[in-house]
Amino acid sequence: MSEELGLFEAMYNCRAMRRIEAKPVPEELLVKLVDVANQAPSGSNMQRARWIVVRDAGQRRKLAALNKVAVEAYIGPQSGRAGELPHQDAAKRQRMLESVLWQAEHMQDIPALVVPCMEFEGPVSGGEAARAGSSLWPGVQNLLLAARGLGLGAALTTLGLSDRDTAREVLGLPDHVEAYAIIPVGYPMGNFGPVTRLPVEATLHWDRWSK
Ligand SMILES: Cc1cc2nc3c(=O)[nH]c(=O)nc-3n(C[C@H](O)[C@H](O)[C@H](O)COP(=O)(O)O)c2cc1C
Repeated sequence: MSEELGLFEAMYNCRAMRRIEAKPVPEELLVKLVDVANQAPSGSNMQRARWIVVRDAGQRRKLAALNKVAVEAYIGPQSGRAGELPHQDAAKRQRMLESVLWQAEHMQDIPALVVPCMEFEGPVSGGEAARAGSSLWPGVQNLLLAARGLGLGAALTTLGLSDRDTAREVLGLPDHVEAYAIIPVGYPMGNFGPVTRLPVEATLHWDRWSK
C-alpha cells in the first residue's frame, strides 16, 4: 500500500487499468475508496452519491455478461474504433482495444465492481439523471485517484450499463436511484504508467474562445 504517492504524481499516472488479478481486495480498502469518493463536492452539498460494491460472484457474472455484449457491439468489425486519432496512434489504440477485450472476457473474475449511483427524492427522467451526474463524477475521479494511491488498478467503464433496464434489475435499483458506471477494482496485472494526453496548449483558451 502506497498512500505516500504524491497527488500530482497520481493524477499524471492514473491510467485505466483493465487487466486485474482475481485476488480479493481487503474490505477496508474498498470502504476507504468509497470514503475518499465521498469527500468530493456535490451541487448544494446534497451528497446524493451512493456506491454499490459488487463482490458476489453471481452478481459479477451478470454485470460482466452485460458488459461483454456491449463491448462486442462497440468494438464490432465495422466500428472503426481501432483507427488512429490525432492524439493516439493506431498501435496505442489497438493496445487499448485489446485491454478492453481482455476485461470483457474477465470482468466476472475481478474481485470488486464498484457501481457509482445517485439517490434522488423520487423517480427522475433520463435527462435529469444525466445532468445530476455532475455531482457524482468528482467523487468517481477521487475514487480512481485513491485506487491509484493504494496501488489498486481501476478503470471507469460505462458500456456495461448500456442495457439500462437489465442492469437496473440486476442491481435491484428502486425508481429513485440511477447507476452511472461500473468501475472494476483490484490488484493490477500490469505496471502503472503515465497517461498520454493532449498538450495543455491544445486545450487552453484565455479569456474567450480563440481560433
Ligand atoms: C465517461 C467515460 C466512459 C468510459 N467507458 C469505458 C468503458 O465502457 N469501457 C472501458 O474499457 N473504458 C471506458 N472508459 C475509459 C476510457 O476509455 C479511458 O479513460 C481512455 O481511453 C483514456 O485511457 P487512459 O486513462 O488509460 O489514458 C471510459 C471513460 C470515461 C471518462
